[in-house]
Amino acid sequence: MPDPDILVPAADVTAFATRLLDAVGVPPTKSQLVAESLVAANLRGVDSHGLQLLPYYLEQIEWGDMDAITDGRVISEIGSCLLYDGQNGIGQAISDICCAHAIRIAAASGLGMVVARESNHFGAAAFWAQKMADAGLIGIVMCNASALVPPWQGKEPRLGTNPICMAVPGGEEHPWLLDMATTTVAAGKIFKAKINGQPQIPPNWAMDAEGVPTTDTETALAGLLMPLGGYKGSGLAMMAEILCAVLSGGAMSTELGGIRFRGKPVRVSQMFLAIDIARFLPVAEFRARMDRLIRIMKTTPPAKGYSEVLVAGDPEWRMEQERRKSGIPVGPGTWKALCEAGERLGVRAPVR
Ligand SMILES: NC(=O)c1ccc[n+]([C@@H]2O[C@H](COP(=O)([O-])OP(=O)(O)OC[C@H]3O[C@@H](n4cnc5c(N)ncnc54)[C@H](O)[C@@H]3O)[C@@H](O)[C@H]2O)c1
Repeated sequence: MPDPDILVPAADVTAFATRLLDAVGVPPTKSQLVAESLVAANLRGVDSHGLQLLPYYLEQIEWGDMDAITDGRVISEIGSCLLYDGQNGIGQAISDICCAHAIRIAAASGLGMVVARESNHFGAAAFWAQKMADAGLIGIVMCNASALVPPWQGKEPRLGTNPICMAVPGGEEHPWLLDMATTTVAAGKIFKAKINGQPQIPPNWAMDAEGVPTTDTETALAGLLMPLGGYKGSGLAMMAEILCAVLSGGAMSTELGGIRFRGKPVRVSQMFLAIDIARFLPVAEFRARMDRLIRIMKTTPPAKGYSEVLVAGDPEWRMEQERRKSGIPVGPGTWKALCEAGERLGVRAPVR
């Protein structure tokens, strides 16, 4: 039986994460941004992309594998297209700047597309797409990631879990927010099982090293992740790889490092596309049409065994309401890793 989760209020754990980042020399505004982005994922129930990542980010900085200070630089801006060099900066810091550029360009030109190379892990894609949706735009975000996934019918990793995300401003309904790995699940969900002492994972998440499906956590970690829906997932992962890494001139496929490997940079590429709705339809009309579409979906009679039909973003939105009240349940393994980092860096944990 694994140890129980530790329940921590979002504000306390954000402050703790911020101080840990400060302690390894991250400038305060960047520390705050990284902490907020991770806790936002936990609040939404996306624990694979929450505080579980922080011990790896800290190590990356302590080892000198990631530059905690740089803001990166614009390489070129032509019309609605901007190419950015992340200069191995913190993924969240680079993404924040790139999102701001995409929003600025979309306001001026209708579309703003920013592609960044030489960046680092940016957490959950939703945090960045939501920033664009909060500005009243449709936000689309993708990135490539460390090669952990074989292309369909292969048995060596060549692709990342390359997420695809789209956030749409809401009307009366909650904003539609699709944020998905192009594998059955994000790799972090299997690492979460490992870190928190769960020996089994659900079927179809992963394969062994020979490409045979497995539910054993250790075998999965020594093996391969399952592309989402077979060759269609491989195709979607390639799409993200092309729009991020091929287009940016950045590292592709096996050229990437990873947050769990020391001694080399991650070199991930990211794509941020902002679309100004008003260039197509009055915004009020678009929002009303989104409400209508969502209601058409949600009034579908539920299939046997289900009580309702949901749309993308619903499970996370509900979880966020709950966790804002009750606190964030942090897995015991993740909490131990954070407390150990705190002891090493002289930062006191809010709960012990
Ligand atoms: N930074 C990286 O390198 C990287 C790589 C891969 C994934 N990720 C992140 O991992 C996170 C988790 O990805 P995932 O694929 O495991 O997520 P998931 O499978 O839990 O959810 C995927 C999507 O499905 C929707 N959904 C879930 N249940 C639903 C239902 N019953 N009806 C309708 N829609 C439903 C969710 O709202 C979500 O938008 C994402 O935030 C993603 O950005 C990041």
